[in-house]
Amino acid sequence: MWQMVQRSFGGPDVFERAEVPRPTPGPGQVLVRVVATSVNAADWKVRSGVNRQLGEPPLVLGLDVSGIVAAVGDEATRFAPGDAVYGMVFGGANAEYVVAQQNRLASVPVSIDPVHAAALPVAGVTAWQALSSVRPGERVLVHAAAGGVGHLAVQIAARRGASIAATARTGNHAYLRALGVTEPIDYRTTDFTTAVREVDLVVDLIGGDYTDRSLTVLSETGQVVAAEGPATHPDSRVRRLYVDPTTAVLDELAATVDRGELTVDIAQILPITELAAAHRRSESGRVRGKIVLTADR
Ligand SMILES: NC(=O)c1ccc[n+]([C@@H]2O[C@H](COP(=O)([O-])OP(=O)(O)OC[C@H]3O[C@@H](n4cnc5c(N)ncnc54)[C@H](OP(=O)(O)O)[C@@H]3O)[C@@H](O)[C@H]2O)c1
Repeated sequence: MWQMVQRSFGGPDVFERAEVPRPTPGPGQVLVRVVATSVNAADWKVRSGVNRQLGEPPLVLGLDVSGIVAAVGDEATRFAPGDAVYGMVFGGANAEYVVAQQNRLASVPVSIDPVHAAALPVAGVTAWQALSSVRPGERVLVHAAAGGVGHLAVQIAARRGASIAATARTGNHAYLRALGVTEPIDYRTTDFTTAVREVDLVVDLIGGDYTDRSLTVLSETGQVVAAEGPATHPDSRVRRLYVDPTTAVLDELAATVDRGELTVDIAQILPITELAAAHRRSESGRVRGKIVLTADR
């Protein structure tokens, strides 16, 4: 089988295609023939070496997977060969086949094609987890609302009856209003700390000084959920979020999509041979929605 490997940390051109033996799924694991994956910010952070969560090269990136079960390991009873599944792997999806833990997979939403389903796992589950506590009538502020996680977070918050402020460039404001944002803020011209207050939940997809500045806009019981930044924060109102895609959450996400309550927006679909271009575009920080990569040879 083929995979897109990097033998050192580096720029978007570091990937090369390699032929390797097809892996065998172990206990509780499933071998998936990849139909598509997507680019997450973590991919280019790992590629460059800023994020060392996947260890040292050689590395095969790709966290999201949508594909067809090709084989199952011992005790992997949840799926059978031929099933269409989607979910998350801890690297390796930029390949023809990848081994996944069965408890990180679910059946693909029936209302979208498997290529679109590849855009959902990491971004969708992150957004889902970030908004788990939101109640109707609460005020939510989403930073980087137009991005992969952000555009899904906005939709989930709107569905739960929250009122939503969001940071994004003006060019994305009409788009975000259509998703449910009532107070779009152009972070280039307006300091969000002067534009919103009494916020019950900030979904911070930027980190850095955004986290500390977000604390100043909170209501008395407000919280910041930070997907970026250090593991712990001295202020107990900051909760650091780590994506944890279980079958149960992926099932809920799929059901939400199938009810027409959540739409994943695809900025671009590229073949995996365009992996470097996809990384360049994602790294620009300007993508609206998600970039999907199909596992074309
Ligand atoms: N902890 C976890 O488990 C976890 C999971 C998933 C993601 N994350 C992290 O969450 C972050 C967001 O991920 P993503 O996949 O959504 O990223 P993304 O899709 O690459 O985000 C791109 C978006 O960011 C917006 N943006 C850029 N700079 C901004 C700024 N200063 N203020 C407001 N918006 C800005 C852009 O909108 P404009 O063009 O309007 O500026 C663009 O639409 C990343 O840092 C990622 O690593 C963490």
